[in-house]
Amino acid sequence: MDTPVTILILAAGLGTRMKSKKAKVLHRAGGRALIEHVVDTALQLTSAERIFVVVGHQAAEVQALVKDRRVRFVMQQEQKGTGHAVMMARDVTQPHVGCLLVLYGDVPLLTASTLRTLITTQAGSDCAATIITTCLDDPTGYGRVIRAPDGTVQAIVEQRAATAQQFSIREINSGIYCFDAALLWKHIGEIQPNNPAREFYLTDIVEIFRRAGLRVQALQHDNPRELLGINTREELAAVDGIFRETAVQQLMRSGVTVEKPDTVVVDLGVSVGMDTVIEPFAQILGQTTVGSDCHIGAGSIICDSQIADGCFIGPYTIITESRLESGAVVGPYARLRTGTVVGENARVGNFVEVKKTHIGPGTKAMHLAYLGDAIVGSEVNVGAGAITCNYDGYKKHETRVGDRAFIGSNVTLVAPLEVGSGSFVAAGSVITESVPEDALAITRTQQVNKPGWARRRREQHPE
Ligand code: UD1
Ligand code: CA
Repeated sequence: MDTPVTILILAAGLGTRMKSKKAKVLHRAGGRALIEHVVDTALQLTSAERIFVVVGHQAAEVQALVKDRRVRFVMQQEQKGTGHAVMMARDVTQPHVGCLLVLYGDVPLLTASTLRTLITTQAGSDCAATIITTCLDDPTGYGRVIRAPDGTVQAIVEQRAATAQQFSIREINSGIYCFDAALLWKHIGEIQPNNPAREFYLTDIVEIFRRAGLRVQALQHDNPRELLGINTREELAAVDGIFRETAVQQLMRSGVTVEKPDTVVVDLGVSVGMDTVIEPFAQILGQTTVGSDCHIGAGSIICDSQIADGCFIGPYTIITESRLESGAVVGPYARLRTGTVVGENARVGNFVEVKKTHIGPGTKAMHLAYLGDAIVGSEVNVGAGAITCNYDGYKKHETRVGDRAFIGSNVTLVAPLEVGSGSFVAAGSVITESVPEDALAITRTQQVNKPGWARRRREQHPE
């Protein structure tokens, strides 16, 4: 793009209509905070040092969320309206001539391609500003666009100030503007808080420009969904639904089978390979990658994890910050917590919990086990109910299990210790010392059978 673009994102408001302690732009849709969506869109159009975010309510939290993107911040201590928010940025952005895009932090579905059209429309015109508008069946809550006889914009009237006739106008202001920067800064100071809310409305700039003999044009957008603003929790849910729907559609278009797609929740950062099948009610969240030919069982939740090709995840499995190598089989009802690696073709079955543990290739822990802070080799068998006691009340300790070891059912491994490769730990043993390679370790007491004991006992207790 030839015209240098500066972008101002307004994100200082609390969002009273959300009825929340949390600033509105921190609320999430599609797995990301609203402000992250808008900043990421802006970054597709210009460099980070030309993006300014106006912060106020919970400024520190908003800044922390997007600081990695290296954008700049402007403080609006008191929120006196959208016009006032823009004024706060005058000194820092004034050196940047050319196009100034103003975006609202609560309009997250907006795309870079729409903004490119807006910029070219403004750059190729003799108008002081171009505004994106759209027609809504229900324009409640939005500013209404009043057109002049020549088709340019005469004014934007906020709902609260609208007359009955203006109220019925369906063309609304999206809150997305492209200004001739020099003209905006020349006239911004003329905005007055002369409305019932005593706020400085940015939208008043339209009439101010007209009085100065300048024109404002509308770029009418035909996809109202993209311009949805979020003021309430219902609107947040609607926008979240659109993000999810889009994410799932993209997966299906790239060759993923999604059963009952409207029940599946996928975050925007997720990627899934071809011919993977996702069953109903699965959630794939955060920065998760799933390979091809995998199976994600119903009701499973996978967050910030890497699943290699050909893995099978049974229903109701919870996986967080973990990695599955190819052909791994986990679940149903398994829980893999932070730092777990399940090796190639290894199996983790139902009601097995694994934390910060490396499970080697071909190893099996099929039922009711707990493995924490452990390094388990390859082709190990972990019996039902076996557990590592990794915590002594103060510190975590490590357990190492060598290749091909056999850990019997209900074995208790009291860490720190090492079970040598090829060794055999008898069922029910409590192991407190390391086991040498190829040895048998058994700690339970010898079994005693007393012939006839049970019959004699019954005879002492007649019916
Ligand atoms: C605004 C527009 C309205 C438009 C709608 C589109 C004005 C006066 N009205 O109304 O015409 O149809 O958006 O979604 O602009 N903000 C600040 N500082 C402030 C006030 C607001 O940074 O002092 C930020 C908010 O955090 C928010 C954005 O500006 O991200 C919009 O503010 P909001 O109060 O939601 O405006 P609307 O009433 O929706
Ligand atoms: Ca709004």
